[in-house]
Amino acid sequence: MRSIASRMSVMSGEGALAVFARAREMEKEGRSIIHLELGEPDFHPGASVVESAARALSDGKDRYCGVAGVPALREELAAYLHRTRNIEVSPANIVMAPGCKAALFFAMMALLEPGDEVLFPEPGFPGYPSITLGLGAVPVPFELSPENHFQPDLREIERKITRRTRMLITNSPGNPTGTVYTDAVQKALAELAVRHDLWVLSDEIYARINYGGDFISMLRYPGMKERTLIIDGFSKSFAMTGWRLGYTVAPPEVVPALAMLAINSYTCVAEFTQYAAIDALRDKEGNTPRMVAEFARRREQFVNDLNRVPGFHCEPPQGAFYAWVDIRGTGSSAEEVCRVLLDDAGVAAIPGVAFGPSGKHFVRFSFASSVANLREAANRILKASTAGQGSLAEK
Ligand SMILES: Cc1ncc(COP(=O)(O)O)c(C=O)c1O
Repeated sequence: MRSIASRMSVMSGEGALAVFARAREMEKEGRSIIHLELGEPDFHPGASVVESAARALSDGKDRYCGVAGVPALREELAAYLHRTRNIEVSPANIVMAPGCKAALFFAMMALLEPGDEVLFPEPGFPGYPSITLGLGAVPVPFELSPENHFQPDLREIERKITRRTRMLITNSPGNPTGTVYTDAVQKALAELAVRHDLWVLSDEIYARINYGGDFISMLRYPGMKERTLIIDGFSKSFAMTGWRLGYTVAPPEVVPALAMLAINSYTCVAEFTQYAAIDALRDKEGNTPRMVAEFARRREQFVNDLNRVPGFHCEPPQGAFYAWVDIRGTGSSAEEVCRVLLDDAGVAAIPGVAFGPSGKHFVRFSFASSVANLREAANRILKASTAGQGSLAEK
């Protein structure tokens, strides 16, 4: 009998993509929509990166290439990680992948057996539980609660560790809360991982998008080198979402497994994009710091504006580019708030439950949009919140 594999029924999509599809439909019908649903910088890579991609193509760098990535890029990445994160990484420990999601997927596939338990932050990136389930493993959420300033609660994590726990996923700065884990929390997480002999998957995709806090890579803590895989890439820090460029930094014994998965799936990452990525990392034009400074300005403005909306409460995020808004004060559900925002105000945002059940009283807005768009969005939200009909408050 022909059927779809059962693992597909346990995986899930992404709320952001579903809201985006609906908002695009409305646009086709002539509605004006401000898109604050997707986690995509509204910047593009600098001219030197684009020129470098064009040059690589005209130089014939459009062939199959090394499975783990071109050596020049992996060397540049090792230097970049040393410069920006103060970690010592050998180019031999870096494996390129077509995006961070693919890097995440293959890292988890390489390390998890069916029935293994995976601790992951919740609310968090929806891929963590979905991929876990798809691999026949068991997702075990640890909550990032507003009462604990969205920091992982060490006691809860320790309580949830069992004989079957194989992996701890960390994500700092985090999506959707913007939390940068404190040094003390990370130190304690590292100690737990050592004590229980866990793999640590440290999703550091927002490492560069940090508003002044002290970001420390998980790799810096004692005992982490042999058990930590860093997942990172070019989508957020270099505004290269559509280039599909990510990478894993892995302990030496994991590298052949990642290479084996690459051979059996994507073969290699597009060669010319990897040469352009070298220029992105060197960042001679200072694009990343300029983009982050702009995000910092928008964060200030947008979070202030959101806090003026009756019933909204938003702590300024320490990193990433999301406003994670507690909407309990409106008396409405997050779904209803998002429906009113989209239908009446033309502002697309995501109900927090898309990031896990504990996000049910929250709405996520991306502020990777122009200052003018954000101002207009805030005005529209305020108007919708005070209008009698379609008000954000429960009727
Ligand atoms: C925490 C986190 N990890 C991974 C990804 C996936 O990144 P990429 O677009 O490079 O696949 C995202 C994208 O939103 C993310 O927020």
